[in-house]
Parts: sequence; C-alpha cells; structure tokens
Amino acid sequence: MNNLELLLSRKSHNKLEAPAPSDEQLDILFKAALRAPDHALLRPWRYRVYQGDALLELGDLFAQAMLNESPDTSADKLDKIKQKPLRAPMVIVASVVIQEHPKVPEIEQILSSGASVQNILMAAHFQNIGAMWRTGGMAFNSYLHQLLAMEKTEQITGFIYLGQEVGEKRPAKPFEIEEFVTRFK
Ligand SMILES: Cc1cc2nc3c(=O)[nH]c(=O)nc-3n(C[C@H](O)[C@H](O)[C@H](O)COP(=O)(O)O)c2cc1C
Repeated sequence: MNNLELLLSRKSHNKLEAPAPSDEQLDILFKAALRAPDHALLRPWRYRVYQGDALLELGDLFAQAMLNESPDTSADKLDKIKQKPLRAPMVIVASVVIQEHPKVPEIEQILSSGASVQNILMAAHFQNIGAMWRTGGMAFNSYLHQLLAMEKTEQITGFIYLGQEVGEKRPAKPFEIEEFVTRFK
C-alpha cells in the first residue's frame, strides 16, 4: 500500500489484543505525535503510557474516580469501569497542558493535542497496530485528574487504546464529500 492508500484506509478498531506495541514502535508513535502543528511551539502535549499491571492500576483509579463523583455507584458498575482499560494491551492517556499565551488561545492548544493524537493513530496504522481513540466520563472527571497528578490546567483529550486487531473491521460509514464541502470559485 502506498502512503495515500494507507492514509485513506485508517479505521478505528475496538477489539484489540496482545502484543502491545514494542518500545521501537512506541517511539515511532511519539515521534509522529511530536510532529503535530503547534502554534508558538508551546509543546502542550503530554502522554502517559499504561500496559501490563499498570492497566489494572488505571482501572482501579477509574473506579475510585467514579466513586468520588457518585458515592452510591453499584458494585456492578464499578466493576465495569475497572475493566475498561483492559480492552487493549496498551492505553495511552493523552492530555494537553493549557498555557497562557497572548496569541495562542486554549482552543488552539486543544486542537494541537487532537492533531497529535491523530498522528499517533496514523503512525499506528502505518505499523499495522490497531487503535481506538476514546474519551467518556473518565476523561472529564476532575478527581481522576488529581489521581493522575495532572497539572492544574491540564485536560485529558483522549484514551488511545492500542494493540493487535481481532475480528472483522467494522465497515466505514459511506459519505458524500459534497455534504461537507462548499466550493467557491
Ligand atoms: C475526541 C474523540 C473522542 C472519542 N471518544 C469515543 C468514545 O469514548 N467511545 C467511542 O466508541 N468512540 C469514541 N470516539 C470515536 C472513535 O474513536 C472513532 O473515530 C469512531 O468510532 C469512528 O470510527 P473510525 O475512526 O474508524 O472512522 C471518539 C473520537 C474522538 C475524536
């Protein structure tokens, strides 16, 4: 497949199994992440990588965060949230540290983080690694932010699940380019 074909064939996958990306593959993911457009070179991106037993610990943090937000959460629901990080052999928590800057508002820094995450998804696809970008309530749970020792102005922009794809890929939703594009000539 040439580069353009690879680009046009990226697809998320929600069933991912071991092996996790190797250290060498992970290095390439982060080199790609750090190539994201970044106004004023603020370098606002942060990444925390979880694999092996650390995924269980992340699940425990999820459960603590949920319990803090809703103390009467049922044991069943708590167990479900604990299992979330176990859906792949590696989870990267992507975040952005918002910095005060006269020319770079918050939205540009969040967009840069999004571009950086997308670069990770593409670099994963190029290396035959399955990936899925998720958020959900945990991304916006401020107690989880504390448990992860995030900085005051740091926000989670995604949980990136990575591993080998299992099972059939869901077909891409068909679309018409013209639905999204207005041309001025
Ligand atoms: C910021 C962001 C957060 C997302 N969060 C979730 C999520 O929590 N759960 C989910 O099923 N899909 C989520 N998605 C969508 C998937 O990552 C994916 O893009 C979608 O299922 C469409 O599949 P595709 O990437 O193969 O086109 C999110 C996407 C973005 C950009």
